[in-house]
Amino acid sequence: DYLGDEDLTQETRDLISSLPREKGWLVSQMYQFQGRWHTQALLQGLMECQKRFEAKDSDIILVTNPKSGTTWLKALVFALINRHKFPVSSGDHPLLVTNPHLLVPFLEGVYYESPDFDFSKLSFPRLMNTHIPLLSLPETVKSSSCKIVYCCRNPKDMFVSLWHFGKKLAPEETADYPIEKAVEAFCQGKFIGGPFWDHVLEYWYASLENPNKVLFVTYEELKKQTGDTIKRIAEFLGCGSIGEEEVSGIVKLCSFESLSSLEVNREGKLPNGMETKAFFRKGDVGGWGDTLSESLAEKIDRTIEEKFQGSGLIF
Ligand code: A3P
Repeated sequence: DYLGDEDLTQETRDLISSLPREKGWLVSQMYQFQGRWHTQALLQGLMECQKRFEAKDSDIILVTNPKSGTTWLKALVFALINRHKFPVSSGDHPLLVTNPHLLVPFLEGVYYESPDFDFSKLSFPRLMNTHIPLLSLPETVKSSSCKIVYCCRNPKDMFVSLWHFGKKLAPEETADYPIEKAVEAFCQGKFIGGPFWDHVLEYWYASLENPNKVLFVTYEELKKQTGDTIKRIAEFLGCGSIGEEEVSGIVKLCSFESLSSLEVNREGKLPNGMETKAFFRKGDVGGWGDTLSESLAEKIDRTIEEKFQGSGLIF
């Protein structure tokens, strides 16, 4: 589940011994590498990925902060780019029997779990996802013409989603941790994968500077206008023409209701032991009110204002 330290190489142990560390919510230690806080396992995956991953021009890389719509985006883009091979209306579509995380490899997760995984065996165009910050991406991702689709989510909803996910994943470790402290750490940026704000802003500015390389979408717009956002992604990826029927087929196949009710997503497990149902909770926009008090919400709002002011990003 990427929280432990059982499978660390000596190289990682040596490196992390020199890095700034913090005790984090959910993880006993987080390490600061290239300005960001990582768990030990994902840091090892990230370093392997930096060393080994060779991007191809046709690659598609989906980037998110955790709990920002990764599972959904994986399903949508998988269905989109494979719509000729796997017609969305067919009764035997891979998404009906396979969890999206098993159809789209998670770069730093795979490099942690199976460093020798052969990415050249994936069919083209290769579709992968990552949480790696822009500045830490492998060099060839930046130098090649591969495409990045970034999905961001309202910070309060994302925080609340992660809060519940963490409780499911590690009930004992998280039981006594006060939410006030977690919100404080989130706002300060000393949070798994954080600072959240920098992660979002870097990809946001990259999408403005280089719109052919990075497409920025939000969970909220995916919710409100799923079909139009799929068309925007299709155009960005150069997917060719796509019919209205195909678009609505993808929307339906990948909807929260449809994916979360499939047996593979209700009862399944990923190879690392995570239950697939943990990736489907409510799927709402603005549902944070059932978990965050008014004052905690205000605290996050103030940070949103402070960090995103002048960027053009509005939540
Ligand atoms: P909630 O916890 O708010 O319900 P990630 O995939 O990045 O881990 O994000 C998980 C969040 O996306 C969860 O949010 C989950 O319910 C939601 N989600 C998963 N599949 C979805 C889908 N098909 N449509 C909309 N939201 C989805």
